[in-house]
Amino acid sequence: MQRIKANITGVHGWVPDFVLTNEELEKMVDTTNEWIMTRTGIKERRILREPGKGTSDIGAEVVKGLLEKTNTDPKDVELLICATVTPDYAFPATANIISDKTGLSNAWSYDINAACSGFIYALDTASKFIETGQYKKVIVVGAEKMSMMVDYTDRATCVIFGDGGGAVMLEPTTDEYGIRDSILRTDGSGRIHLYQKGGGSVKPASFRTVAAGEHFVYQEGQQVFKFAVTNMADVSVEIMKRNNMESDDVNWLVPHQANMRIIEATAKRMGIRKDQVMINIQRYGNTTSGTIPLCLWEWEDQLKKGDNIILSAFGGGFTWGSIYVKWSYDGQ
Ligand code: UT7
Repeated sequence: MQRIKANITGVHGWVPDFVLTNEELEKMVDTTNEWIMTRTGIKERRILREPGKGTSDIGAEVVKGLLEKTNTDPKDVELLICATVTPDYAFPATANIISDKTGLSNAWSYDINAACSGFIYALDTASKFIETGQYKKVIVVGAEKMSMMVDYTDRATCVIFGDGGGAVMLEPTTDEYGIRDSILRTDGSGRIHLYQKGGGSVKPASFRTVAAGEHFVYQEGQQVFKFAVTNMADVSVEIMKRNNMESDDVNWLVPHQANMRIIEATAKRMGIRKDQVMINIQRYGNTTSGTIPLCLWEWEDQLKKGDNIILSAFGGGFTWGSIYVKWSYDGQ
């Protein structure tokens, strides 16, 4: 019997209209466009400003577009997994709210929290459901409203993050396409370098946690940078090796968009040219779980059937990993 694999049969993305530029940030904190561009590669980011809107609104825009593009009846979707660290609420899951807003009345759904590796964790998890043969249509969403936990008086973090998200449709295939391999890793000892200190069970929200700014994202940038550079490159090279791929065999690297220098270091270790790397960090910044599907969405029309694509991410937790996908359709 031929092995069933999970195939990506559609991708869609969405970002809010409001653009927060480096020039605007120069007026808000002690920073410069030159510093931000040199150290991160980010020029602008999108912010979801409308009151009362949350991550599920980003996810719902993405899923609506995906259903339309893939000509899918919402009732045919069986499972939706949403990767996010900025859920609408502590519970219920944002995935449930996205499903409700998009009419997925026959699906079950849940969230995955793996910070910037969230999308690849969710994609790998979803692929296993398809591989069992029981599931025929699964949607994987990566969506974030990072602006909800950014301190816009802290220059070390407010220049980095943005809001947005994307999603893919997974369906079964028995040919050579789809998700062919994955390497995923966790190192929980890294949690002290990048996290949200307050609001969880260790430090429930109180006047004190709010006054101390403990609901904002806390990041020791240099520490995270060191781990990210090494680990993202290691897994990307490892997945190439164990699938007998040389650099010429890789058509596209889709890296998490945290820092241009991390992206360049990963590409260099893999021996691939910059024009083989999907990079949109300059326009969206770091949208955490949103970066990889946003890249796939923007590059979809350049993708060709049979392209070898490596997705790579590193994030808080620490979490990191790499997925090898053989693309199954020509972009329009
Ligand atoms: O997404 C998942 C995981 N996250 C990452 O992968 C992020 C990894 N880390 C990074 O990308 C970088 O560490 C940052 C972009 C966050 C920071 O860049 P850096 O080159 O590591 O800068 P730094 O934190 O070492 O700071 C260097 C200097 C400091 O000043 P002093 O102490 O040398 O006087 C900072 O105070 O730059 C200062 N600085 C700034 N200056 C102007 C920090 N932020 C800013 C700023 N504008 N926005």
